[in-house]
Amino acid sequence: MNRTVSHAPRARRHAASVVLLAVSVVVCSVFHCRFHTGACAAEEREPRARARSGMVVTACPYASSVGRAILEKGGNAVDAAVAAGFALAVTFPEAGNIGGGGFMLIRMGSGVTSCIDYRERAPMAAQRDMYLDENGEVIPDLSTLGHLAAGVPGSVAGLYHAHRVYGTMPWRDLIEPAVELADRGFEIAPRLAASLERLQRYRDRFTALREFMAPDGGTLKAGDRLVQSDLARTLARIAECGPDDFYRGETADLITREMRAGGGLITAEDLASYAVMEREPVRGSYRGYEIISAPPPSSGGIVLLQILNILEGYAFGELLHLSEQHVHYMVEAEKRAYADRARYLGDPDYVEIPVPLLLSKEYADHSRRSIVERATPAARLYGGGLADFSHEETTHYSIVDRSGNAVSTTTTLNGAYGSKVIVGGAGFLLNNEMDDFSVKPGVPNMYGLTGGEANAIEPGKRMLSSMSPTIVMCDSGVFIVLGTPGGSTIITTVAQIIVDIIDFDMDPESAVYSPRFHNQWLPDRISYEHGAFSPELIARLMNRGHTCVERAGVIGDVQLILIEDAVFYGVADPRGGGRAEGVETVSPVR
Ligand code: DON
Repeated sequence: MNRTVSHAPRARRHAASVVLLAVSVVVCSVFHCRFHTGACAAEEREPRARARSGMVVTACPYASSVGRAILEKGGNAVDAAVAAGFALAVTFPEAGNIGGGGFMLIRMGSGVTSCIDYRERAPMAAQRDMYLDENGEVIPDLSTLGHLAAGVPGSVAGLYHAHRVYGTMPWRDLIEPAVELADRGFEIAPRLAASLERLQRYRDRFTALREFMAPDGGTLKAGDRLVQSDLARTLARIAECGPDDFYRGETADLITREMRAGGGLITAEDLASYAVMEREPVRGSYRGYEIISAPPPSSGGIVLLQILNILEGYAFGELLHLSEQHVHYMVEAEKRAYADRARYLGDPDYVEIPVPLLLSKEYADHSRRSIVERATPAARLYGGGLADFSHEETTHYSIVDRSGNAVSTTTTLNGAYGSKVIVGGAGFLLNNEMDDFSVKPGVPNMYGLTGGEANAIEPGKRMLSSMSPTIVMCDSGVFIVLGTPGGSTIITTVAQIIVDIIDFDMDPESAVYSPRFHNQWLPDRISYEHGAFSPELIARLMNRGHTCVERAGVIGDVQLILIEDAVFYGVADPRGGGRAEGVETVSPVR
C-alpha cells in the first residue's frame, strides 16, 4: 500500500473543481427539476458538513439527525447506523425499510472489518420457473409487484446482529427515535410528496397503500404530516422483543397472514430460519489505496474491483476529466466486468465463484489487453440487456465516529416501495427483491441486468445484488466511506467517484456533484446524465463505435464521507434530498 498518499488539496484538484463547478451548475439545476427518486423532510437541508468528532450522511435529514444524536450521546458508528436504519424505515418509505434487506460494511477502529449480509432469501417454496407461463415466457410484473415478488426480509435481523456484535448502546434506545417518528408523524418534504404522487397509480390494486395517502385517498402534499401508527406499534414490539417479534412473534404472524391472503410464498418456517451472514468483505487495491467492499451475494465489491484493476493500467493522471479517452477506458472496463458478473456471480452458498481469479491483477491485465481504441461490441463479450429504469429506489448511508469506526450501509426494498404490499396490521412494505434473480436466463430484470445459471432461483438462495457499500483506506486509516442506490449503476457510480478523487484529485464535493455515465455491457451503450457529455464528446465516442444515450433521470444518490487530516467531510448527493450532519461534542464514551 502506498505510504505517501496525500489528501491535501492540490492545485490540479482545484482546477478540476472549477471545471466541475460549471458542469455542476448545469447538472444541479437539472436535478432540481428532473430528479424523482429521493424523498424526505421538509426542513432546510445541508448536503455538506465538516466536523472532527463524527459524521452521519444519509438520504434523509430526519435519519441524519437521529444518527447524529446517537453519536452525540456517546454511541458508536454502528449504534448510529442502526438508529438511522430504523429511522429511514419511517421517513424514507420508498427505500428505507424493515421489509427488505441490505449490506452493512463495518470497519472498526481496531482494524476489524466485516460485512453483515442481511440480503433477502427466496422462500423455500420458490421455484426456478415461478415467474414463467406455460410457454416459458416471463409473466409481466409477477416478480416485481405483489406478494410473489417478496423475498424473506433480512433488515431487522441484520440491524440486530450489527448492534449485538459491534454496538454499545441499549437496543431499545436505537429504535425509540423511529417509533416516535412513526407515531407522531413527520412533515412531508416536496420530494416525498412527489414520490407519493407516483404511488397513486397502484392504489386500486394495493388498497393498503392508503396508509400513505390522505384520508380521502388523495395525495399527501408537502407540509402535511405522515403518521404511521401500525408501523409505530411494530417498531415498538421490535424495540421490546428484538428480532424474535419479527421472525417468530406477532409480526411474523402478520406477515404469514398477509402471505396467505395474497397468495405469497413466505411461511413461518421461512421467517424462523432466516439467518444473517457475517462475511469477509472483498478487498483489493487501487493505486496504493486499499478498497474494501461488499462480497457476494452482492456483485458490488467484485465488479468494482475488477473495473478498478483494469483502470489501474492506464495513466489517468495524464488524462482530462470527461475526455474521450477517460470515458472510453472507463466504459470498456465496466463492460468487461459486468459481462463476468452475469456469468459467474450468484449466492456463494449455492454457486462456486472464482473470486481470486476475478480479482487478480493478472486477470485485469488480460482483460485490459483486449481493450483497443475502438469500442468492443458487447456481443463479443458474454450476453445481457439494459432498460432505462428511472423510478428505482434504494438508499445508502455512511457514518464515522471519533474512534475511527466506519459504517457503510446500502439497503433496499428493490423498486420504489418494493412489491407495493403492506403487511396488514404491521404497517410496513415488503420488498420485490425476487426480481434480482435471473427470472429467465437471457431476459433482463428491471435494471436490464441479465443473469445466468449462477443467479437462477433456488429455494432459500439469496438473489444477486449490485449494492456496493465501500470503504477506501489509506495509511492513516479510513479515507472514504461511500455508496449509492441506482440498481445496476451502483457499481459504476462508486467506481467513478473513487477514480475522480484518486486520479483526478477532486475534492469530495466535486466528485459527488460530477456528472455520471454508465455502461453495463448490455445493451451495448453508454448512458449518461443530462449535461454530462458535450456534443463534441458524444461525436468522438460515436466515432469510436460507442452508442451514447442520455438517461431519462439522474444516476445515483451518493452519501459520502472523506477523512483528511482528522477532519470528516460529509457530502450528500444534490441529486437526492439527503443531509450530512457533523458531530463536534460527544458525551463521555460509554
Ligand atoms: O440489490 C440490488 O442490486 C438492487 N435490488 C438495488 C436496487 C436499487 O438500487 C434501486 N435504486 N435505486
